[in-house]
Amino acid sequence: MSDKVKLTKMNYDADRPAAKNPIKIMDLSLRDGHQSLFATRGRTEDMIPVAEMMDEVGFWAIETWGGATFDTMHRFLNEDPWERLRTLKRYIKKTPFSMLLRAQNLVGYRNYADDLAYAFVDRAAENGMDVFRTFDALNDYRNFETVVKQIKKSGKHFQGCICYTLTEPRLGGEVYNSEYYVRKAKELEDMGADSICLKDMAGLMAPYDAYELVKELKKQVKAPIHLHSHFTSGMSPMTHLKAIEAGVDIIDTCMTPYAYRTSHAAVEPLVMALLGTSRDTGFDIKKLAAINEIFEKQILPKYKHLLDDSKVSIIDINVLLHQTPGGMLSNLVNQLREMDALDKIDEVYKELPRVRKELGQIPLVTPTSQIVGVQTVNNVLHDTPEERYKMITGQVKDLCYGLYGKTAVPIDKELQKKALKGYPRGETPITSRPAEVLEPELEKAIKEVGDLAVDIDDQILYAIFPVTGKKFLEWKYGKAEAPDSVKPITMEKVKAREALVKKALAGELIEKKEGTPEKTDAVRTFNVFVDNEYFAVDVDPVGGAPVFAAAQPAVVSRPAARAAAAPAPVAKAEPVAAPAQPVSGTLLVAPMPGMVVRFEKKVGDKVKQGDTVMILEAMKMENALVAPCDGSLNALNFSVGDSVVKGAPLAVIA
Ligand code: CO
Repeated sequence: MSDKVKLTKMNYDADRPAAKNPIKIMDLSLRDGHQSLFATRGRTEDMIPVAEMMDEVGFWAIETWGGATFDTMHRFLNEDPWERLRTLKRYIKKTPFSMLLRAQNLVGYRNYADDLAYAFVDRAAENGMDVFRTFDALNDYRNFETVVKQIKKSGKHFQGCICYTLTEPRLGGEVYNSEYYVRKAKELEDMGADSICLKDMAGLMAPYDAYELVKELKKQVKAPIHLHSHFTSGMSPMTHLKAIEAGVDIIDTCMTPYAYRTSHAAVEPLVMALLGTSRDTGFDIKKLAAINEIFEKQILPKYKHLLDDSKVSIIDINVLLHQTPGGMLSNLVNQLREMDALDKIDEVYKELPRVRKELGQIPLVTPTSQIVGVQTVNNVLHDTPEERYKMITGQVKDLCYGLYGKTAVPIDKELQKKALKGYPRGETPITSRPAEVLEPELEKAIKEVGDLAVDIDDQILYAIFPVTGKKFLEWKYGKAEAPDSVKPITMEKVKAREALVKKALAGELIEKKEGTPEKTDAVRTFNVFVDNEYFAVDVDPVGGAPVFAAAQPAVVSRPAARAAAAPAPVAKAEPVAAPAQPVSGTLLVAPMPGMVVRFEKKVGDKVKQGDTVMILEAMKMENALVAPCDGSLNALNFSVGDSVVKGAPLAVIA
């Protein structure tokens, strides 16, 4: 690093001498950048203005696809995900494309069958994908086997990931130590990995741990080492620098407007920091600045409202305190808040490492972070001194059965036995590759979707996302009108909105909105007290005299997939308190707010205490609700798809 060449103001941006071993950079702005900061809402039309310029920078690759983009594009943006690849390829001709592939989960949220996995990778390659960055939440590489066969067959770059996780504040301990990561890297090399990625999705990797780990990996494996370290905890720029000193080959960064917070460190400071050293990127900082200018002025104003600016700090200190992904911590807090139990947060922090250990000390990354998190909260809220794991989620049962793969250490035997009691697939866990137990599914999906799908890409989209995929294909082929919510917003609209906000802040918005009804005689004034202030609020009941009887529950639509840890596209319907219903017998009440996903019993059925009556989905996890006593099921008060509040009387047993 010390062999600095002499630079002048004249040559630092253009034809400066090439470095001996330049660090290679992958840009993530067009995938992980907007996925981390702007809810994955980046549109293709907003990538085109910078695409050709980005092709000129000299990136090792540009990440353009994968992760949540496939889902979000067809669901929320009315965009064909395949089309993005083909479109961007017309502008980015030199730089390879990279995607994040969730191994056997592809770009969805469950393990798909092998036939679909082969077809997906084949089509991604045909449509223009070059580098397949592949990961599995458990680092169980049996989940790589199928997709890797196809990546190789398609002649593309297979990048194998090791999900980076910790059990201690720093690298080490019994499970996730240096030896573990070296062993995993060798496994990847044996599978034919063209490069190996340390995937630090939570930003947990400390600079000196990165140094030690990269040094060790460079000694023991031949494949290039690529570091993916999120900024979340604030350590990543230091971690990058130490990894570079240790000889890492490739680093992930974002363009400044897509950088920091839960995203990645920016490329520009790194370019300047390495200028004239043996690891100089060789990038022209002025080109980067020109790209940033377009992002700032023409593109980001359309996305600014999606940025979570509830906090001034751009760093999540909790990640440093608890060595747990930031997203997982905020989920835990939300879940506790929904349950009115925010005061239990310290108990949750205490229970979390225990649950994680009993579940096989698994890495905490989507979906395992959610599985461990929700089960922890269930334990804190529902367990008694006599009994732990009183309410086990469906996903924990799947994990105990082996459906996600092999855990880092064996799952606690007692817990496993309890979780698998009455499990539909069987009470003995599998030890095979998880997809071995899955039936082929592509042909079935093709039959189901029929003429609505025009080509194989449509068919695959439908096979992975049957509900939202079908809806998208109807929009795409003009069989249904796409709602306004999926249409892009224009810069004109952005400007109008900003002007409105300015007016409102200046107190100039007093004219009555068009269509505001006149007050009636029934209007009543309430004083609303907020801290030391109070506001007089006029409340006017709509539709005559106020009705206080409970209404029938509103039916809301089911989320797209009943897959493990589906994303949260559920329209926020008003939860239903309780339908008016005469009660005689023992009530089964909702132990938490959630949505009814299915019934295991029907009215009139005899039930025994402990039998599963219904499944309630809460925080994307399925919870089996059991009969509190023997008897016959006299009433089921809700339907599938209903949202219910905590304490709602779900069923009556007499
Ligand atoms: Co990432």
